[in-house]
Amino acid sequence: MTVDDAIKALSPQALKMVKNNYIIGLGSGRAATAIVRLLSSHLKKNYLSVRAIPTSLQIKMEAERGGISIIEPDQIDHVDLVFDGADQIDTKGNMIKGGGGALLREKILISMAKKVVIIADESKFVKQLDRSVPVEVHQFARNMATIQIKKHGGRPHIRLLERGYPYVTENGNIILDCEFGTISNPKGLAAKIIAIPGVIEVGIFSKPDIIYKAKENGKFEILR
Ligand code: A5P
Repeated sequence: MTVDDAIKALSPQALKMVKNNYIIGLGSGRAATAIVRLLSSHLKKNYLSVRAIPTSLQIKMEAERGGISIIEPDQIDHVDLVFDGADQIDTKGNMIKGGGGALLREKILISMAKKVVIIADESKFVKQLDRSVPVEVHQFARNMATIQIKKHGGRPHIRLLERGYPYVTENGNIILDCEFGTISNPKGLAAKIIAIPGVIEVGIFSKPDIIYKAKENGKFEILR
């Protein structure tokens, strides 16, 4: 039994939230990929039609492979439901996201959504957030934002690809992965970092509506 088995086990319940004609936001990463694959067969089996907004090319290709209709963000005025993963979740439901670099688009869709469903494996759950926070920054502000983040107690490292090239997001920006140690006030920290000129988005998210914890033993728990 694996986490993927747990995602399969929880999917019938999660996918019950999908209604005909819904506009669905699709996060990026492994959990989102798993749910997109299961969504595709769920739609076919139940003769449902939805339109999806993917947050990355990765998930867009996955949705296309599954025959899910894609809609451009400019064509909609709401999002009914978002399915997404997370890099870390604290006991209050605060989350760090952006490990895959899709934080900006994920933040936009989540902020618009009527319901946000997060699926994460049990290794992601902690008492307090303490992993590095991805911060998307305009390339022009690389050094200046670095200086400002350090003033707020962070240790920023530019995200690099395996061969040492800077990682560039699908929005053309860089990511500074910033260590802050244990984060006691995630919202306060996010507010300070987003206020730095040149910072486009901060990978601190708050309170989804539903969190599924997928376990190594193939079972799952529903939190919130
Ligand atoms: C994408 O940038 C992220 O926000 C993902 O949601 C996060 O990294 C979780 O991904 P996994 O489901 O692959 O762990």
